[in-house]
Amino acid sequence: MTNLYLIGFMGSGKSTVGRLLAERIGWSFADTDDEIVRREGMEIPEIFAKGGESFFRDLEQATLLELSGRSGWVIATGGGIVLRGRNVEIMKASGKTVYLSAREEVLAARLVGDPAVRPLLGGDSRIARLHELLQERRGMYEWADLTIDTSDQTAQAVVEAIVNHFGLGEPGGRAVRLG
Ligand code: S3P
Repeated sequence: MTNLYLIGFMGSGKSTVGRLLAERIGWSFADTDDEIVRREGMEIPEIFAKGGESFFRDLEQATLLELSGRSGWVIATGGGIVLRGRNVEIMKASGKTVYLSAREEVLAARLVGDPAVRPLLGGDSRIARLHELLQERRGMYEWADLTIDTSDQTAQAVVEAIVNHFGLGEPGGRAVRLG
């Protein structure tokens, strides 16, 4: 396995789990949204305001392509990364993918309390928009090598499930190799 990608809807815990997982197994960590913000010197809402969603998607694809050339990275992705088939091909060709899912009401509760500004959930009817986007996208994540429902789990438990599934904590695995 070269890289480990985390996909899933906004609020599914990709960044939190990704960071912890990388620490747990001694891999490096990247988040496509953070990379885009760093490279562009603009926050996500500014990027959407400047060039619309397609401009953001182009930056997202270029960022993913670049990250996919690395090895031994845990990569948390934006919720819409699966909208482009090419992105799915890139992830399939360069590692294993974990889909973090969650029940709709759990996502809604997490997103309400989350300080991150998400342009696609902007406006008055955030809950209705969340429902609509979930309907559109749910099936797009299901090709992943592993799916974990994070609704009733701590981030640490999700990390352990991933480590166990891929044998990342076993002797000979990268996590315990010395020197
Ligand atoms: C998006 C999700 C966001 C971010 C952008 C678009 C989406 O990332 O990439 O606002 O289309 O679902 P998170 O999934 O980390 O919130």
